[in-house]
Amino acid sequence: MEIQLWREILEPYALAVDELMVKFNHIIEAYRKAGMYSPIEQVTGRVKTISSILEKAQKKSIELENIEEKIEDIAGIRIICQFVDDIYKVVELIKNRTDMSIVSDKDYIKNKKDSGYRSYHMIISYHVETLYGPKEIHAEIQIRTLAMNFWATVEHSLQYKYKQNMPDNLRQRLHKAADAIVTLDDEMSSVRGEIMDAQNSFNIRANIVADILTNIQNLYKVANKREVVKIQDEFFRIYESEDLKQLERFNKELDIISEGYRAQSLR
Ligand code: GTP
Ligand code: MG
Repeated sequence: MEIQLWREILEPYALAVDELMVKFNHIIEAYRKAGMYSPIEQVTGRVKTISSILEKAQKKSIELENIEEKIEDIAGIRIICQFVDDIYKVVELIKNRTDMSIVSDKDYIKNKKDSGYRSYHMIISYHVETLYGPKEIHAEIQIRTLAMNFWATVEHSLQYKYKQNMPDNLRQRLHKAADAIVTLDDEMSSVRGEIMDAQNSFNIRANIVADILTNIQNLYKVANKREVVKIQDEFFRIYESEDLKQLERFNKELDIISEGYRAQSLR
Protein backbone atom coordinates (compact mmCIF):
# COMPACT_ATOMS: atom_id res chain seq x y z
CA MET A 1 0.00 0.00 0.00
CA GLU A 2 1.16 3.53 -0.71
CA ILE A 3 2.42 5.71 2.08
CA GLN A 4 -0.19 8.36 1.27
CA LEU A 5 -2.99 5.81 1.62
CA TRP A 6 -1.61 4.72 5.01
CA ARG A 7 -1.63 8.33 6.14
CA GLU A 8 -5.33 8.49 5.27
CA ILE A 9 -6.08 5.26 7.11
CA LEU A 10 -4.22 6.40 10.21
CA GLU A 11 -5.75 9.90 10.27
CA PRO A 12 -8.94 8.99 12.26
CA TYR A 13 -6.78 7.13 14.79
CA ALA A 14 -4.57 10.19 15.26
CA LEU A 15 -7.70 12.27 15.80
CA ALA A 16 -9.04 9.78 18.36
CA VAL A 17 -5.74 9.79 20.28
CA ASP A 18 -5.70 13.60 20.33
CA GLU A 19 -9.31 13.82 21.51
CA LEU A 20 -8.94 11.14 24.16
CA MET A 21 -5.79 12.80 25.53
CA VAL A 22 -7.65 16.11 25.85
CA LYS A 23 -10.55 14.38 27.62
CA PHE A 24 -8.44 12.43 30.11
CA ASN A 25 -6.20 15.41 30.82
CA HIS A 26 -9.31 17.45 31.44
CA ILE A 27 -10.43 14.92 34.05
CA ILE A 28 -7.13 15.44 35.91
CA GLU A 29 -7.62 19.19 35.79
CA ALA A 30 -11.27 19.04 36.88
CA TYR A 31 -10.39 16.97 39.96
CA ARG A 32 -7.57 19.33 40.90
CA LYS A 33 -9.68 22.45 40.39
CA ALA A 34 -12.34 20.95 42.65
CA GLY A 35 -9.63 20.45 45.28
CA MET A 36 -10.00 16.69 44.95
CA TYR A 37 -7.50 13.91 44.51
CA SER A 38 -7.29 12.79 40.86
CA PRO A 39 -7.27 9.01 40.30
CA ILE A 40 -5.42 9.72 37.05
CA GLU A 41 -1.82 10.84 37.46
CA GLN A 42 -0.83 11.20 33.80
CA VAL A 43 -1.92 10.25 30.30
CA THR A 44 0.07 9.39 27.21
CA GLY A 45 -1.04 8.34 23.76
CA ARG A 46 0.35 7.16 20.44
CA VAL A 47 -0.65 5.94 17.02
CA LYS A 48 1.03 2.68 16.06
CA THR A 49 3.69 3.21 13.41
CA ILE A 50 3.13 1.77 9.94
CA SER A 51 6.08 -0.56 10.39
CA SER A 52 4.82 -2.03 13.64
CA ILE A 53 1.32 -2.41 12.19
CA LEU A 54 2.83 -4.39 9.28
CA GLU A 55 4.97 -6.42 11.66
CA LYS A 56 1.97 -7.32 13.81
CA ALA A 57 -0.16 -8.15 10.75
CA GLN A 58 2.52 -10.48 9.49
CA LYS A 59 3.01 -12.15 12.87
CA LYS A 60 -0.73 -12.75 13.28
CA SER A 61 -1.36 -13.56 9.58
CA ILE A 62 -3.80 -10.67 9.17
CA GLU A 63 -4.71 -9.66 5.61
CA LEU A 64 -4.08 -6.00 4.81
CA GLU A 65 -7.79 -5.32 4.25
CA ASN A 66 -8.61 -6.65 7.73
CA ILE A 67 -6.03 -4.59 9.58
CA GLU A 68 -8.45 -2.00 10.98
CA GLU A 69 -10.82 -4.68 12.22
CA LYS A 70 -8.23 -7.11 13.60
CA ILE A 71 -5.59 -4.79 15.06
CA GLU A 72 -7.28 -3.11 18.00
CA ASP A 73 -4.38 -1.04 19.27
CA ILE A 74 -3.67 1.22 16.29
CA ALA A 75 -4.79 4.00 18.64
CA GLY A 76 -3.33 3.54 22.12
CA ILE A 77 -3.86 5.47 25.34
CA ARG A 78 -1.95 4.80 28.54
CA ILE A 79 -3.31 6.03 31.84
CA ILE A 80 -0.95 6.09 34.80
CA CYS A 81 -2.28 6.07 38.37
CA GLN A 82 -0.58 6.37 41.75
CA PHE A 83 -2.42 3.52 43.45
CA VAL A 84 -4.00 0.20 42.40
CA ASP A 85 -7.42 1.34 43.74
CA ASP A 86 -7.27 4.33 41.39
CA ILE A 87 -7.12 1.97 38.41
CA TYR A 88 -10.55 0.54 39.25
CA LYS A 89 -11.92 4.05 39.78
CA VAL A 90 -10.73 4.96 36.29
CA VAL A 91 -12.32 1.77 34.91
CA GLU A 92 -15.67 2.82 36.45
CA LEU A 93 -15.23 6.34 35.17
CA ILE A 94 -14.72 5.05 31.61
CA LYS A 95 -17.65 2.62 31.93
CA ASN A 96 -19.94 5.50 32.89
CA ARG A 97 -19.02 7.68 29.91
CA THR A 98 -21.38 7.98 26.98
CA ASP A 99 -18.72 8.99 24.44
CA MET A 100 -16.91 5.64 24.43
CA SER A 101 -18.09 2.07 24.85
CA ILE A 102 -16.12 -0.90 26.08
CA VAL A 103 -15.70 -3.68 23.54
CA SER A 104 -13.64 -5.93 25.81
CA ASP A 105 -11.40 -5.74 28.85
CA LYS A 106 -8.65 -7.78 30.47
CA ASP A 107 -7.58 -7.50 34.07
CA TYR A 108 -3.91 -8.45 34.14
CA ILE A 109 -3.71 -7.18 37.71
CA LYS A 110 -5.99 -9.84 39.15
CA ASN A 111 -4.53 -12.28 36.58
CA LYS A 112 -0.88 -11.42 36.10
CA LYS A 113 0.63 -12.54 32.76
CA ASP A 114 3.28 -15.29 32.76
CA SER A 115 5.92 -12.68 32.01
CA GLY A 116 4.99 -10.90 35.27
CA TYR A 117 3.21 -8.11 33.36
CA ARG A 118 0.39 -6.29 35.19
CA SER A 119 -2.05 -3.68 33.81
CA TYR A 120 -5.75 -3.25 33.14
CA HIS A 121 -6.55 -3.30 29.40
CA MET A 122 -9.64 -2.09 27.64
CA ILE A 123 -10.60 -1.99 23.99
CA ILE A 124 -13.05 0.82 23.42
CA SER A 125 -15.18 1.81 20.48
CA TYR A 126 -14.94 5.54 19.79
CA HIS A 127 -16.67 7.84 17.34
CA VAL A 128 -14.72 10.41 15.29
CA GLU A 129 -15.76 12.90 12.66
CA THR A 130 -13.32 12.92 9.76
CA LEU A 131 -13.04 14.82 6.50
CA TYR A 132 -14.78 11.87 4.84
CA GLY A 133 -17.57 11.53 7.36
CA PRO A 134 -18.18 9.81 10.69
CA LYS A 135 -16.19 6.74 11.67
CA GLU A 136 -16.28 4.29 14.57
CA ILE A 137 -12.79 3.14 15.55
CA HIS A 138 -11.18 0.89 18.18
CA ALA A 139 -8.64 2.12 20.67
CA GLU A 140 -6.70 0.31 23.40
CA ILE A 141 -6.54 1.87 26.85
CA GLN A 142 -3.91 0.53 29.24
CA ILE A 143 -4.35 1.54 32.87
CA ARG A 144 -1.50 0.90 35.30
CA THR A 145 0.28 2.27 38.35
CA LEU A 146 3.57 4.17 38.19
CA ALA A 147 5.29 1.06 39.56
CA MET A 148 3.68 -1.28 36.99
CA ASN A 149 4.66 1.17 34.27
CA PHE A 150 8.26 1.20 35.44
CA TRP A 151 8.44 -2.61 35.27
CA ALA A 152 6.69 -2.83 31.87
CA THR A 153 9.01 -0.20 30.37
CA VAL A 154 12.16 -1.97 31.54
CA GLU A 155 10.87 -5.40 30.51
CA HIS A 156 9.77 -4.10 27.12
CA SER A 157 13.19 -2.70 26.33
CA LEU A 158 14.88 -5.96 27.40
CA GLN A 159 12.42 -7.95 25.26
CA TYR A 160 13.26 -5.67 22.37
CA LYS A 161 16.97 -6.13 22.94
CA TYR A 162 16.91 -9.94 23.20
CA LYS A 163 13.88 -10.66 20.94
CA GLN A 164 13.04 -14.36 21.56
CA ASN A 165 16.38 -15.11 23.22
CA MET A 166 16.15 -13.57 26.66
CA PRO A 167 18.63 -15.39 28.96
CA ASP A 168 16.91 -17.51 31.62
CA ASN A 169 18.57 -15.77 34.53
CA LEU A 170 17.45 -12.38 33.26
CA ARG A 171 13.89 -13.67 32.91
CA GLN A 172 14.05 -14.93 36.49
CA ARG A 173 15.28 -11.60 37.73
CA LEU A 174 12.41 -9.89 35.92
CA HIS A 175 9.98 -12.24 37.68
CA LYS A 176 11.54 -11.31 41.01
CA ALA A 177 11.31 -7.64 40.13
CA ALA A 178 7.63 -8.14 39.20
CA ASP A 179 6.99 -9.63 42.66
CA ALA A 180 8.77 -6.67 44.24
CA ILE A 181 6.49 -4.34 42.27
CA VAL A 182 3.41 -6.13 43.67
CA THR A 183 4.80 -5.63 47.19
CA LEU A 184 5.55 -1.99 46.45
CA ASP A 185 2.01 -1.36 45.15
CA ASP A 186 0.55 -3.06 48.27
CA GLU A 187 2.78 -1.00 50.52
CA MET A 188 1.73 2.21 48.75
CA SER A 189 -1.95 1.27 49.13
CA SER A 190 -1.57 0.97 52.90
CA VAL A 191 0.27 4.29 53.11
CA ARG A 192 -2.53 5.79 51.04
CA GLY A 193 -5.10 4.81 53.66
CA GLU A 194 -3.12 6.71 56.27
CA ILE A 195 -2.79 9.80 54.09
CA MET A 196 -6.54 9.78 53.39
CA ASP A 197 -7.37 9.33 57.11
CA ALA A 198 -5.20 12.27 58.06
CA GLN A 199 -6.70 14.40 55.28
CA ASN A 200 -10.19 13.42 56.34
CA SER A 201 -9.83 14.35 60.02
CA PHE A 202 -8.15 17.58 58.94
CA ASN A 203 -11.22 18.43 56.82
CA ILE A 204 -13.66 17.56 59.63
CA ARG A 205 -11.75 19.80 62.04
CA ALA A 206 -11.62 22.66 59.51
CA ASN A 207 -15.38 22.43 58.98
CA ILE A 208 -16.17 22.47 62.72
CA VAL A 209 -13.87 25.43 63.28
CA ALA A 210 -15.57 27.30 60.42
CA ASP A 211 -18.99 26.54 61.99
CA ILE A 212 -17.85 27.75 65.41
CA LEU A 213 -16.47 30.99 63.99
CA THR A 214 -19.75 31.66 62.16
CA ASN A 215 -21.67 31.03 65.37
CA ILE A 216 -19.46 33.37 67.39
CA GLN A 217 -19.70 36.07 64.73
CA ASN A 218 -23.52 35.85 64.80
CA LEU A 219 -23.57 35.91 68.59
CA TYR A 220 -21.69 39.23 68.51
CA LYS A 221 -24.79 40.71 66.87
CA VAL A 222 -27.28 39.51 69.46
CA ALA A 223 -25.60 38.47 72.71
CA ASN A 224 -24.04 40.36 75.56
CA LYS A 225 -20.48 41.33 74.54
CA ARG A 226 -18.90 40.01 77.76
CA GLU A 227 -20.59 36.66 77.24
CA VAL A 228 -19.29 36.37 73.67
CA VAL A 229 -15.74 37.21 74.77
CA LYS A 230 -16.01 34.42 77.34
CA ILE A 231 -17.19 32.01 74.64
CA GLN A 232 -14.35 33.11 72.40
CA ASP A 233 -11.76 32.49 75.11
CA GLU A 234 -13.26 29.07 75.70
CA PHE A 235 -13.00 28.39 71.98
CA PHE A 236 -9.28 29.30 71.88
CA ARG A 237 -8.62 27.03 74.88
CA ILE A 238 -10.33 24.05 73.20
CA TYR A 239 -8.79 24.86 69.83
CA GLU A 240 -5.31 24.67 71.32
CA SER A 241 -6.03 21.36 73.00
CA GLU A 242 -6.51 19.84 69.50
CA ASP A 243 -9.27 17.61 70.87
CA LEU A 244 -11.76 16.97 68.06
CA LYS A 245 -14.45 15.56 70.40
CA GLN A 246 -14.32 18.66 72.61
CA LEU A 247 -14.52 20.93 69.58
CA GLU A 248 -17.59 19.03 68.37
CA ARG A 249 -19.28 19.31 71.79
CA PHE A 250 -18.46 23.02 72.02
CA ASN A 251 -19.94 23.59 68.55
CA LYS A 252 -23.19 21.84 69.59
CA GLU A 253 -23.41 24.04 72.71
CA LEU A 254 -22.96 27.13 70.55
CA ASP A 255 -25.71 25.89 68.25
CA ILE A 256 -28.05 25.64 71.24
CA ILE A 257 -27.12 29.13 72.51
CA SER A 258 -27.63 30.62 69.03
CA GLU A 259 -30.93 28.77 68.72
CA GLY A 260 -32.00 30.32 72.03
CA TYR A 261 -31.29 33.85 70.82
CA ARG A 262 -33.07 33.17 67.53
CA ALA A 263 -36.17 31.94 69.43
CA GLN A 264 -36.04 35.07 71.61
CA SER A 265 -35.87 37.43 68.65
CA LEU A 266 -38.83 35.69 67.01
CA ARG A 267 -41.11 36.28 69.99
P1 GTP B 1 -1.12 -8.09 21.23
O1 GTP B 1 -0.85 -8.94 20.06
O2 GTP B 1 0.16 -7.44 21.77
O3 GTP B 1 -2.20 -7.09 21.00
O4 GTP B 1 -1.59 -9.09 22.35
P2 GTP B 1 -3.07 -9.33 22.84
O5 GTP B 1 -4.05 -8.98 21.79
O6 GTP B 1 -3.14 -10.67 23.50
O7 GTP B 1 -3.22 -8.18 23.90
P3 GTP B 1 -2.57 -8.03 25.31
O8 GTP B 1 -3.64 -7.40 26.11
O9 GTP B 1 -1.98 -9.28 25.83
O10 GTP B 1 -1.36 -7.01 25.07
C1 GTP B 1 -1.53 -5.77 24.51
C2 GTP B 1 -0.40 -4.82 24.89
O11 GTP B 1 -0.09 -4.93 26.27
C3 GTP B 1 0.91 -5.09 24.21
O12 GTP B 1 0.96 -4.48 22.95
C4 GTP B 1 1.90 -4.43 25.19
O13 GTP B 1 1.89 -3.02 25.05
C5 GTP B 1 1.29 -4.77 26.52
N1 GTP B 1 1.84 -6.03 27.04
C6 GTP B 1 1.22 -7.22 27.06
N2 GTP B 1 2.01 -8.17 27.62
C7 GTP B 1 3.15 -7.55 27.98
C8 GTP B 1 4.38 -8.00 28.62
O14 GTP B 1 4.56 -9.16 28.97
N3 GTP B 1 5.35 -7.05 28.81
C9 GTP B 1 5.19 -5.75 28.45
N4 GTP B 1 6.20 -4.90 28.69
N5 GTP B 1 4.06 -5.31 27.86
C10 GTP B 1 3.06 -6.18 27.61
MG1 MG C 1 -4.05 -6.63 21.54
